[in-house]
Amino acid sequence: MNENIIFFFSGTGNSFDVTLKIAEKMKNTDVINISSIKTIPTITNYKRIGLVFPIYGFTMPNIVSKFILKLPLNSNAYYFCIVTLGGLSFGAEYRILEMFNKAKLQLQYLSKIFMPENYIIVTKIPTEKTIMKILNNSIKKVIKITEDIKKYKEQKPKKSLFYNLVKNISKEETEKWPLKAKNYKINNDCTKCKKCIRVCPVENIKMVEDEILFEEHCEYCLCCIHICPQRAINYGNKTIGKKRYINPNIEIEDMKKYCYKQRNFV
Ligand SMILES: Cc1cc2nc3c(=O)[nH]c(=O)nc-3n(C[C@H](O)[C@H](O)[C@H](O)COP(=O)(O)O)c2cc1C
Repeated sequence: MNENIIFFFSGTGNSFDVTLKIAEKMKNTDVINISSIKTIPTITNYKRIGLVFPIYGFTMPNIVSKFILKLPLNSNAYYFCIVTLGGLSFGAEYRILEMFNKAKLQLQYLSKIFMPENYIIVTKIPTEKTIMKILNNSIKKVIKITEDIKKYKEQKPKKSLFYNLVKNISKEETEKWPLKAKNYKINNDCTKCKKCIRVCPVENIKMVEDEILFEEHCEYCLCCIHICPQRAINYGNKTIGKKRYINPNIEIEDMKKYCYKQRNFV
């Protein structure tokens, strides 16, 4: 039985990369993909319980907030959270702490790691050189965080100046996400390879009568746009001609083990 468990959510692999690195350095760590969970596993025997996920719209992805609310209490365990982000959190850390409080769980440690930006709808993906620089820097941060977690260090987020400013905007924005998939457009370059269907963490993409269709429970991770080998998926016209991004450290074997197999997607 392992001592630690990490639950992760990831669209383009950044949070997955961080999860695997922390798990490898901590040792004795189980790794579970939040999007594969049908029933929450028993966590009573773990000493450290961690969550790793990206910041979306200055807060957590919806799937993560729902998961935190369902996460059981293990009063002997140390709960930690690591968030990955491309630029600005604007108080997301405090919103996460509030979510833990709402779930009546004690969050002991929260830290953030800057990773390559993937929000292609509103911004540009960094150049290859910048991506490599960011990923190299992230390794130093992972080492520091792992040392902290091993020592059960306390590090709680404080309310930032921006917290109240974006609190409501952020909430309204995230509520719209499940429906945003209706703006995905597939062009004629699509070869129906079904890669988008395979990678969608929430099974929001289906093939119906030889047509790729998006349902209405999208988590807005944008993995489908980034991973399509033909660049045939776009978000309205906001992503046309833009560079795509998938974390280069993720191996197909990791995907099989933690994404497809855990979701019974062979
Ligand atoms: C819908 C969406 C919203 C995002 N919002 C933010 C944000 O508010 N602040 C930020 O710094 N990065 C934001 N990002 C960038 C991601 O947090 C960042 O690239 C993250 O590392 C992606 O993790 P993943 O590869 O595990 O999905 C956003 C990305 C997406 C897709």
